Amino acid sequence: MISTNIQIAAYLFASILFILSLSGLSSQESAKKGVIYGIVGMAIALCATLFGGNIQGYVYIIVAMVVASVIGVIVARKVQMTAMPQLIALLHSFVGLAAVLVGFSSFIDPKTVSMAGAERAIHMVEIFVGIFIGAITFTGSIIAWGKLTENITSKPLVFKGKDVVNVVLLLASVVLGVMFVGQGGTHGMPFLIAMTVIAAFFGVMLVMAIGGADMPVVISMLNSLSGWTAAASGFMLGNDLLIVTGALVGSSGAILSIIMCRAMNRSFFAVISGGFGQEVKTGRKLEGKVNSMTHDEAAEWLKEAQSVVIVPGYGMAVAKAQYPIHDMVEKLRSQGKSVKFGIHPVAGRLPGHMNVLLAEANVPYDIVLEMDEVNPELPETDVAMVVGANDTVNPGAQEDPSSPIYGMPVVEVWKAKRVIVMKRSMAVGYAGVENPLFYKENVSMLYGDAKDSVDKINAKLG
Ligand code: TAP
Repeated sequence: MISTNIQIAAYLFASILFILSLSGLSSQESAKKGVIYGIVGMAIALCATLFGGNIQGYVYIIVAMVVASVIGVIVARKVQMTAMPQLIALLHSFVGLAAVLVGFSSFIDPKTVSMAGAERAIHMVEIFVGIFIGAITFTGSIIAWGKLTENITSKPLVFKGKDVVNVVLLLASVVLGVMFVGQGGTHGMPFLIAMTVIAAFFGVMLVMAIGGADMPVVISMLNSLSGWTAAASGFMLGNDLLIVTGALVGSSGAILSIIMCRAMNRSFFAVISGGFGQEVKTGRKLEGKVNSMTHDEAAEWLKEAQSVVIVPGYGMAVAKAQYPIHDMVEKLRSQGKSVKFGIHPVAGRLPGHMNVLLAEANVPYDIVLEMDEVNPELPETDVAMVVGANDTVNPGAQEDPSSPIYGMPVVEVWKAKRVIVMKRSMAVGYAGVENPLFYKENVSMLYGDAKDSVDKINAKLG
């Protein structure tokens, strides 16, 4: 057993390590160090909690930790890079569920029942708010998981009067909260249960109403909510470390959501309120001639080009095409050509997805440019090569006001002299929107798996 003072000191030290971890994770070079700080911080936090006072039932705790660790290691080893976002969404749902369970157990705890006056009122508010955010995070994250695994449609689910229903539910929760706080003993239980059901339904409504293109913001918003949920659990349990870490995750997730909204030219309020006051758009139906090409022709285009910009998307991750792309870049650069990458902020399925994959394949950082850096260079580029990207290169975002992604900045590949688009078919991307890029005169589709296509072109490049 350690004394309370040592436990507080350990919590403080763990908090500092978590802050260092977050700052380490902000750049690729320091990311590994950041992860190590996080692991050490969490180990210290666990030990300080386990060996602190008021802990009973060590056998149960150890069995639960062993089982959970084994599951964690198996899942982490098995998960594909492309499935990371859905795993994260699932983990967020656990944080939400944990907060709901902590809230209910804290409510029926004899210590809480015997509380009186202001102390009890404050604790009741903590429990109510904690369970409210927790239940929204739990069901919202499960719906996000369903949308990311494509078990649930990525199209926004909206109906007439949705906003009114949401406002009524919110008001009903406030009324239930006031009634709950006023009850003595465990008499507030029916109000607590009613609010939990409403909040759970609210979480479903919130995420169901979000369209595919806005999912990145929803994921970072749920990440932020899971942080605030943990902080709320910290208040319920009187655990300072949980409050600090929860606030760190909550605020960094909120900042990330705002950055993403800015990058995608979306209203933060509209996204976090489940599309409040927004009309649903479907986009124009497209018709016209689509050019396609062979691997030989694609290799010829690249041989003739002096400047090439490669724009990767989710399809590169699925095909694991980053490795042959690295070889292609080496070949083209050794022939004196300028080769750059243009990365859209939400390309793929998680923030920084493309950067991680390219770094994994040892593509030099200095030729990997952001969308804003590469767009002005595209009109002077001989060949833009799109590898499994779709929504992030959709000109409809600029040309079609009826498109669900209208207003979102995109990589303007169609401005290059020639464009090769590698994908398997004419299928839509994650946002479910048709892409007018494929119908442009200077664009040719190279159908097939991206890795297979790049391998075949590499063989022709010599
Ligand atoms: P998407 O628009 O999702 O398009 C990817 C394309 O890759 C598909 O159209 C698919 O076409 C093609 N593809 C799949 N497997 C392939 C393979 N083996 N070989 C070649 N092509 C393949 O991708 P994007 O441009 O990267 O845009 C990302 C989308 O996801 C955005 O809508 C974004 O909002 C959303 N999103 C992003 C995030 C984050 S944080 N990045 C999180 C959630 C959602 P075929 O089926 O015809 O091959």
